[in-house]
Amino acid sequence: NWTMANFIDTEIKRIRTLVGPSAEVIGAVSGGVDSTVGAKIMKEAIGDRFHAIYVDNGLMRKNETVQVKKTLDEGLGINLTVVDASKQFLDKLKGVTDPEKKRKIIGNTFIHVFEKVASEIKPKDGSQIEYLLQGTLYPDVIESISFKGPSQTIKTHHNVGGLLEDMKLKLIEPLRELFKDEVRDLGQLMGIPEDLVWRHPFPGPGLGIRVLGEVTPEQVKIAREADYIFIEEIKKAGLYRNISQAFAALLPVKSVGVMGDQRTYEQVIALRAIETTDFMTADWYVFDAKFLKNVASRIVNEVDGVARVTYDITSKPPATVEWE
Ligand code: XMP
Repeated sequence: NWTMANFIDTEIKRIRTLVGPSAEVIGAVSGGVDSTVGAKIMKEAIGDRFHAIYVDNGLMRKNETVQVKKTLDEGLGINLTVVDASKQFLDKLKGVTDPEKKRKIIGNTFIHVFEKVASEIKPKDGSQIEYLLQGTLYPDVIESISFKGPSQTIKTHHNVGGLLEDMKLKLIEPLRELFKDEVRDLGQLMGIPEDLVWRHPFPGPGLGIRVLGEVTPEQVKIAREADYIFIEEIKKAGLYRNISQAFAALLPVKSVGVMGDQRTYEQVIALRAIETTDFMTADWYVFDAKFLKNVASRIVNEVDGVARVTYDITSKPPATVEWE
């Protein structure tokens, strides 16, 4: 009979047989539930022959990098390499305002950095990096079969940098039969901290698409601080698990305000919180007016450069979840 505990045992055995006694595996971790559960399974199966790589792109949420180190390295004992590539990403994004261009730059830079780090990992004598862990879930499998052809993900990885192709890495996808809620159950069963298991999804391009228009270190900082306050208040109010995803976006417009007897002219934050089951359609979350009032006041008072806060009351469709 199928139980989650059986699934873990079977999957670990399958991976051990597949990888054999000496080959090594690399995989990117993001701090999200999928990549963390994937990494934990690999760790259980082959120990330090699994190498997790975390790329700090300078577009992560507040304290995220420190948190990932703490959870994966200290907490779960995963063999982790952390790379700070913030400068590289932010340099490449200078002057770029088009959302799709930003996505492409962030994606390509990620692969470039990941490949470089992967090529510097030197496994023990006689062994070789042969596999790449991917946190593909069942819905991704379905989508790639029906819309893109089964190996689109592999192809995009291969085409960009070339190195992963040269290394001729084979894919390991331990989560490919699971839905998101099953990955969460699995994470809980494997001792991954509750906070991480229930974390809202965060897009690969990170704050790069939540700072609208040009991405600069100063703009990222404003978006990051505002987002932190919003999420902190959501957690304090006990609402985090009722909401599917919530974040702050920084709009590229200035607005007039007044602070004391001073006229200000500063930027605008848009708050977004949604409820959804599949992210294809979504409703905006109905907060108490009191809650919103408090968040707005905290953001304007605590975040330099913000003079106004708005709440996004658009459903998907016609709006998307993200602003870019
Ligand atoms: P949209 O904005 O398309 O978002 O309604 C639906 C879900 O997808 C996430 N999202 C992304 N995730 N790379 C990602 O990894 C991206 O470029 C990207 N764009 C949107 C979004 O956060 C939401 O959960």
